[in-house]
Amino acid sequence: MKKGLFITFEGADGCGKTTQMKLLAEYLKQKGIDVILTREPGGKGLGEKVREILLNYEGHVSDRCESFLFLADRAQNIDIIVNPAVKEGKIVLCDRHIDSTVAYQGYGRGLDIKRINMLNDIATNGQKPDLTFVFDIDVETSMKRVGSQKDRMESAGIEFHNRVRNGYLELAKMEPQRIKVIDAAKSIDEIHQVVISFISNFFVN
Ligand code: TYD
Repeated sequence: MKKGLFITFEGADGCGKTTQMKLLAEYLKQKGIDVILTREPGGKGLGEKVREILLNYEGHVSDRCESFLFLADRAQNIDIIVNPAVKEGKIVLCDRHIDSTVAYQGYGRGLDIKRINMLNDIATNGQKPDLTFVFDIDVETSMKRVGSQKDRMESAGIEFHNRVRNGYLELAKMEPQRIKVIDAAKSIDEIHQVVISFISNFFVN
């Protein structure tokens, strides 16, 4: 059976990645392509419970505990949702994945990046997405888009979010083949066209 594709959507809170993921899903479905949507933290079932803890728990969460929760959710998402669908030849679009942990817990919280890479490796069994989009936007604009109803991560402060943004840009420099940076200050439709152009290149190559 032919292998599908695993594509991830990354970037700051409020960068518009979820909107772009849904637009791409519609575009692919119209072309008759089988698409599955998932997200981290979340996905379904157990993943949604982990998401609830990560975003809404009101007590103190240690940085390493936070990382392990994201990673536990990741292992579940890969095993239960992503891999079975990719094996069936489907295209899986995932809202956040390994690069979020490097950007947020590594660059943002300051945990050792080599160790995070090792842990990501364990959570995913060494697999990486076929393609990753990073929607890049300045922190002021993204925080304005998020508004006043901020969850636990979104409330982490402007310096934290600047480190996260720089983290994503560093990652893209390290893996330019996989990670494509898109200017998220453009209009929704302009960004969608850029996403499609990358996807088409992907199919041609
Ligand atoms: P997201 O689903 O983008 O939030 P929303 O639905 O509110 O747009 O992401 C949830 C938050 O979790 C986001 O602030 C980023 C954070 N996160 C990490 O810190 N590390 C991770 O590994 C993942 C997957 C997410």
